[in-house]
Amino acid sequence: MTKSENPALLRVLDGEALPVPPIWLMRQAGRYLPEYRALRAKAGSFLSLCYDPELAAEVTLQPIRRFGFDAAILFSDILVVPQALGQKLWFVEGEGPRLEPVADAGRLAEIDAQADQRKLDPILETVRRVRAALPRETGFIGFCGAPWTVATYMVAGRGTPDQGPAKALFGNDPALFQAIIDRIVTASIAYLDAQIAAGVDVVQIFDSWAGALSEEDFGRWSIAPTRRIVEGVRAAHPQARIIGFPRGAGRLIPDYVAGTGVDAVGLETDIDRDFAREAIQSRVPVQGNLDPLTLRAGGVELEREIDAVLAAFSGGPFIFNLGHGILPDTPIAHVERLLKRVREGAGDV
Ligand code: CP3
Repeated sequence: MTKSENPALLRVLDGEALPVPPIWLMRQAGRYLPEYRALRAKAGSFLSLCYDPELAAEVTLQPIRRFGFDAAILFSDILVVPQALGQKLWFVEGEGPRLEPVADAGRLAEIDAQADQRKLDPILETVRRVRAALPRETGFIGFCGAPWTVATYMVAGRGTPDQGPAKALFGNDPALFQAIIDRIVTASIAYLDAQIAAGVDVVQIFDSWAGALSEEDFGRWSIAPTRRIVEGVRAAHPQARIIGFPRGAGRLIPDYVAGTGVDAVGLETDIDRDFAREAIQSRVPVQGNLDPLTLRAGGVELEREIDAVLAAFSGGPFIFNLGHGILPDTPIAHVERLLKRVREGAGDV
């Protein structure tokens, strides 16, 4: 296996400030692309797409071919880990994921009995196929969900607006909640190790619901388990580069960086940019934080916001991205516009 050769993404993760930052977008392979919708229809469902290495590799490569992004992100989902742990998973069209909730020790025991990492083998095959087809200058990012975010879905059995069920469980039965977190930590280390062995250059840990936690709970349920994943992955792959994305953690991000040991962090849209530059980018490379709504809206406001993001962060190590995933109804022309402006600068409007 030949890994990417010194692509811009890795140079930034090693601390370089590049005059033109590398750019990729969270959810860059997705429903805003007609070629994605076509393959999704062929696969029949989102999950069958995730578990079909040929189609999943093709979907991963689609945005690279169309736009020439500086990094590809493996096409899969954070919820394949609970599925490998033995929890039933399905997606309701137009709504989102559903799982059989784990809310008591009995259900956790059933999960232990059914855990099987080999269920993730098709996804590792996708990694190998993408690796073989990816241009050398393009970075390749694997990922998992952070234990806290994955646990919110395992406990509630679905997405929740306030993560109430998971919070209730860690309040009422912290030992059971810890046991769930421990399962996710162990499975995620093995999964990320396997992704790196199969060919990704970088892994990202998505903690989409980090912002729902108090400072104390954030330390216990986000920082501590993420640190165990970082240490576990580094034990097998000392050179592994790890991006953390504790979305919504805001002022607690410096604690997250110090406490987890990640190499870089993703920045949500709402973060104060001066704070992010002074208190975060001064320590580690940052990635983000254009508003996905602004990208969808386009126009002068999009140009202005791209320039503001560049002005804030391009003096240091920076990867251009959104503050959250691209929205399904984003016009392709706006993505083209974004790439042109980031790469060719403000002179060409
Ligand atoms: O970034 C990427 O392009 C890589 C692939 C990726 C997906 N999901 C594909 C996907 C990644 C990294 C994720 C992460 C993920 N999945 C998170 C954390 C990041 C975030 O977005 O907050 C979460 C919470 C999930 C769970 C999940 N998967 C939800 C809540 C949903 C439904 C919402 C939606 O957008 O439909 C999904 C489905 C999903 N995951 C889609 C994609 C492309 C849409 C599936 C489709 O209908 O085609």
